Amino acid sequence: MQKFKALITGASSGIGRAMAFSLAAKGHELFLVSRRREKLEEVRAEVLRVHPRTTVHLIDLDVSDPRLAGVLSQLSGDRIDVLINNAGLALGRDKFESSEVADWEQMIQTNVVGNFKLVHLVLPWMLRHGVGDIINLCSIAGHETYVGGAIYCATKHAVHAFTKVIREETCGKNIRVMQISPGMVDTEFSTVRFKGDKAKAESVYANMRPLVAEDIARMMTFMLEQPRHVVIDEIITMPTDQGSPTTVVRRHP
Ligand SMILES: NC(=O)c1ccc[n+]([C@@H]2O[C@H](COP(=O)([O-])OP(=O)(O)OC[C@H]3O[C@@H](n4cnc5c(N)ncnc54)[C@H](OP(=O)(O)O)[C@@H]3O)[C@@H](O)[C@H]2O)c1
Repeated sequence: MQKFKALITGASSGIGRAMAFSLAAKGHELFLVSRRREKLEEVRAEVLRVHPRTTVHLIDLDVSDPRLAGVLSQLSGDRIDVLINNAGLALGRDKFESSEVADWEQMIQTNVVGNFKLVHLVLPWMLRHGVGDIINLCSIAGHETYVGGAIYCATKHAVHAFTKVIREETCGKNIRVMQISPGMVDTEFSTVRFKGDKAKAESVYANMRPLVAEDIARMMTFMLEQPRHVVIDEIITMPTDQGSPTTVVRRHP
């Protein structure tokens, strides 16, 4: 398999971290982005321990930080073959009238503005090189809605619409614009959503078996490994015991 330069945002944890391992196993050169430098260092050390021949670059910046373009351009030589556009978060589960404006701003800035900026940055390079793959991390919250998720659902609906338009705009250019939309995945996501309240976060996955980050990484790797004439527009995936954002079957231990 041809080696490529892969940029993974939100690589310090969860799905992004698992994807770093999956792509390192294939020998690809990695550019890992997130805000927490020490977590990125831990991921790099662990990836290199398991896959010593991989090259791993770290960029400890917010995805919406204007400095990201310059740093990435210098490190990658204006070439990124694969973008795993994954950095994102939910903050809060209150109904809209009780939600915090600062939380909306951070979700919109990360999930929407940061996501769009990354595509705006790497797409011209992909078009110039005549090849590229983009996987946007959407969610079942980009298809459906639930009480207490007004802004998070709105951001993921925005990602969903954006992915479709970019797919249409790049059609015929050897660029595959794809999306994966998971249901419940057991990562730091719920701890972040409940602002460090571990008990609340754990209750999300109580007495059921959620997906794990490696499930999503395996599916995204499958999407990337299709022959170039094949594009998987989207994978929607949930745990077997989840039927919708609000339908979850819990089994008592
Ligand atoms: N877990 C789920 O149930 C689930 C379901 C559907 C969709 N998703 C989506 O999957 C993606 C990954 O989430 P996850 O479950 O892996 O959660 P996670 O474990 O909390 O990971 C989120 C990652 O995003 C990074 N991040 C957050 N804000 C950032 C910013 N402004 N700039 C740069 N990096 C930022 C975090 O790193 P730093 O804190 O170091 O910046 C972390 O690496 C998100 O887009 C999420 O919406 C998750």
